[in-house]
Amino acid sequence: KPWDHYVVAIDGPSGSGKSSTSRGVAVRLGLRYLDTGAMYRAMTWWMLRHDVDVHDPNAVAARVEEPEILSGTDPLGPTILVDGIDVGLAIRSDEVNAAVSPVAAVPSVRSRLLEIQRDVIGEGGIVVEGRDIGSVVAPEAEVKVYLTADPAARARRRALEEGGADVEATRESLLARDAIDSGRATSPLVMAEGAVHVDGTAHTLDEVVGLVVQLVEAAAGLR
Ligand code: DC
Repeated sequence: KPWDHYVVAIDGPSGSGKSSTSRGVAVRLGLRYLDTGAMYRAMTWWMLRHDVDVHDPNAVAARVEEPEILSGTDPLGPTILVDGIDVGLAIRSDEVNAAVSPVAAVPSVRSRLLEIQRDVIGEGGIVVEGRDIGSVVAPEAEVKVYLTADPAARARRRALEEGGADVEATRESLLARDAIDSGRATSPLVMAEGAVHVDGTAHTLDEVVGLVVQLVEAAAGLR
């Protein structure tokens, strides 16, 4: 397929549907899948586990080289291991939710994870989701999507994913993370140059996946 070595970058705020969309696109096109948010969460989980003060950037930076973080790239069964421990569930906890944005704002955390991300991307053939994929991690990506949805829709989706969590509390937690992610000095959430803005609010998952697949086909000259 013409897109066998493509990089498809999907950036956007929390709860915009990036994960479901990215996985759906990867499955439909036979591509690998990388969730970079899971890597920031894994790093955060490790810091909490080792009693590092996540609000002290120097304390975080001092230990950033220690955890071994390994991401699987199967869109049907994404995995994330930290020092050999499967943290797939643990990285979705409230503790990690509350600590991940400050950890992700530490420049040495970003450069360490950037290295691992570029390694996984390798020769391409992958859908990569995050905040800075089109702008920093893979600016050469063939397709860049900036996926958004209105905050109410995002909160409903996240609360449902989290097994019926309180929608209002979820909304506050994700807006708080967005504010830090968009306001930080290093690689803030921005719409990358050349990105296509897709607003998923009024669309089903299948429709959004279909739209991104069309963008990939268009990049391959098939549309
Ligand atoms: O997509 P997510 O909610 O799992 O991401 C968790 C956090 O990680 C998010 O608050 C911001 C950070 N992140 C980042 O800074 N850069 C990325 N490429 C991906 C995630």
